[in-house]
Amino acid sequence: MNAFAIGPGRAREKAGARGPSRFEAAVGSTPSGNGAAAEGPALETRNMNIRYGEHLAVRDLSIAFQRRKVTAIIGPSGCGKSTALRAFNRMNELIPGASTDGEVLFHGVNVYDRDVDPVELRRRVGMVFQKPNPFSKSIRENIAWGARINGYKGDFDELVENTLKQVALWDEVKDKLKQSAYALSGGQQQRLCIARAVALQPEILLMDEPTSALDPMSTAKIESLLDELKRRYTIIIVTHNMQQAGRVSDRTAFMLNGDLVEYDDTKTMFFNPKDERTENYISGRFG
Ligand SMILES: Nc1ncnc2c1ncn2[C@@H]1O[C@H](COP(=O)(O)OP(=O)(O)OP(=O)(O)O)[C@@H](O)[C@H]1O
Ligand SMILES: [Mg+2]
Repeated sequence: MNAFAIGPGRAREKAGARGPSRFEAAVGSTPSGNGAAAEGPALETRNMNIRYGEHLAVRDLSIAFQRRKVTAIIGPSGCGKSTALRAFNRMNELIPGASTDGEVLFHGVNVYDRDVDPVELRRRVGMVFQKPNPFSKSIRENIAWGARINGYKGDFDELVENTLKQVALWDEVKDKLKQSAYALSGGQQQRLCIARAVALQPEILLMDEPTSALDPMSTAKIESLLDELKRRYTIIIVTHNMQQAGRVSDRTAFMLNGDLVEYDDTKTMFFNPKDERTENYISGRFG
């Protein structure tokens, strides 16, 4: 059941938009449905180029992400992983000087079309960052607040409990929901940030090195969480950690100097790469 308000979100209301958004029109009457019935990739880019000023950081990227799978994006530092990831929900627009051309198709809609609401897009395609960044609010409000401003109309206690259970954090925090999120450990804060994204009932979760600031125990918890979350969501994760990519992902994309070099099932990529550059990278010869 979807408890998000049907009709224009706040940003669209402010802009005077009426009627269903582009995504609502594309997915029918399930405004933030997880596309359960939908066919084809969860998200697809076509000939996407991303520049910072004159610098071409991602070159001619065409890639399709399978629904309800974990896709890892790997590659050496500076190859364009984060830049590509941010393009999927238009987060690069928040960076001065960044520009994108080509298409990013979500429900068959190019998310860069002028009538697409980036706020709605980012609710449907959520992001989790490298460093846990909870709001300076209570644990409960970290989940309830975002849902409220995105038009959630259901029971907030239920939402908070269900979401915290989804990220295996409920038992650890159920007696201190009113305490500041900053009182949690780094690993707990990161699970709270995942919960905050999940509470908006997204379809896709983008994660940029979500465990690189965490200890091994917290990392293991998040990795096992990914296995659970992919039953409901499509996950695209950038990681520097090859073992992690091997453990958590179904598909792997290898980028080098702004190019997508190879994209395949993770097992094939790791055991039988087609491109010599992929083989060199995964065997630790560079990067
Ligand atoms: N805000 C920015 N302004 C200008 N250039 C940038 C900006 N962010 C990234 N770049 C450049 O774009 C290229 C790709 O950077 P990006 O951060 O996407 O790489 P990455 O693969 O995520 O690297 P890392 O593994 O170190 O996080 C790099 O050459 C980088 O210097
Ligand atoms: Mg990065």
